[in-house]
Amino acid sequence: MDKLLIDGGIPLRGTVPVSGAKNAALPILIATVLAPGEHRLGNIPDLVDVSSMLSLLGRIGCPSLVDGDVRIDATRIAYREAPYDVVRKMRASVLALGPLLARCGEAKVSLPGGCAIGVRPIDQHLKGLEALGCRFELAGGYVHGRVDKLRGAHIRCDVVTVTGTENILMAAVLAEGTTVIDNAAAEPEVEDLARMLNAMGAKIKGAGTRRIEIEGVTSLHPAPGGYRILADRIEAGTYLVAGAITGGDVTAVGADAEALAPVLSMLESAGCTVERAPGSVRVARSGPIVPVHIETQPHPGFPTDMQAQAMALLSLGVGTSTIRENIFENRYMHVAELLRLGADIAIDGSLATIRGTPKLTGATVMATDLRASASLVLAGLAAQGQTEILRLYHLDRGYERLEEKLGALGARVKRASEGRGE
Ligand code: EPZ
Repeated sequence: MDKLLIDGGIPLRGTVPVSGAKNAALPILIATVLAPGEHRLGNIPDLVDVSSMLSLLGRIGCPSLVDGDVRIDATRIAYREAPYDVVRKMRASVLALGPLLARCGEAKVSLPGGCAIGVRPIDQHLKGLEALGCRFELAGGYVHGRVDKLRGAHIRCDVVTVTGTENILMAAVLAEGTTVIDNAAAEPEVEDLARMLNAMGAKIKGAGTRRIEIEGVTSLHPAPGGYRILADRIEAGTYLVAGAITGGDVTAVGADAEALAPVLSMLESAGCTVERAPGSVRVARSGPIVPVHIETQPHPGFPTDMQAQAMALLSLGVGTSTIRENIFENRYMHVAELLRLGADIAIDGSLATIRGTPKLTGATVMATDLRASASLVLAGLAAQGQTEILRLYHLDRGYERLEEKLGALGARVKRASEGRGE
């Protein structure tokens, strides 16, 4: 297993290219199942989760080729199953439900268990697909769905769910009649999936709002000329916080300021200067980090996937900040590790109180989930001395070429295997 060694205390400066969005790539890759033929997808990041989704597609019978773009041949669906050994590595495999039910009238998907950040049930996915006419049996740790004919319906989600909205959307595009999804997720990645589906011949309106309307069609086709996915706002946000926490000046090239709006306004309130330009965002900090209060909310609120990174920044604030995590019930696993670096954070239920400290000091810490590990990298970049981050595999799930990108900004970062030191 690999670890990361960081010699901190260096202000990061320069530009960083933003990769394609993991959370758009995953639904868009599996959406290719909806239309027979060869699909071409651009800007797909080289991540462990993407490889897992490509291997799931292979298991279903859709081979893929990566030659800069990703090409997927969805001519034939051999198996209608997402097995346990794939789903346990990547919960997003549950996104196979909607496309397989729509294309084949059947799907068998291993129930995703809980994960480090929460129980994460899929009741809303099933409720929405049942409204479209699907029937489900739960047996042997699998959810087995069947449908004779998908019919449009009016669906109100009890909670705003990103992959739930995406699963329902991917089934509704081939349903007879019109479907309305109310209280839908409005994340930019949901919008990107809808853009891709419309390029495949679907009729979707309102993606990016809380109410999505889908007029079903009888068939879809690969997007003519292929489809290029959007940039990763969470990766971009992470690098911009790296500039802020080290007292540097970083420009994220390819970042979309609108998609990052809640993160950028937090950085401005925390004392950073932010420059928004078409296709890039620049963040710099020279003065103190000013305390702020953050509430995580579904988009366009402050993203839960940036909560841990913001906490690392605020742990060096001049005063007390607070964060309330409203999306996941167990998304403070990074706190105990940040305390090891000298942060002063207290948790009371969903509320975190962060008393700013003048400095952090390098230590050995353990990554527990994707975004928690990102916050440890940020804290390590600002800390004095060396920080060693164990279980790097968490980070590889969502950050492409991390050491290379940080190195180009002036960071002293090195990957090593856990068995050995420098
Ligand atoms: C997506 O997860 C993202 N993953 C997550 O990013 C992100 O944290 C999350 O949305 C919230 O923004 C992908 O897009 C692949 P939810 P998802 O369903 O869809 C509850 C990362 O770091 N809920 O929107 O699984 C649920 O328990 C990852 O890149 C139900 O109760 O999240 C949670 O409390 C981590 N029933 C809340 O809704 C359901 O059927 C939001 O979860 C579904 C969800």
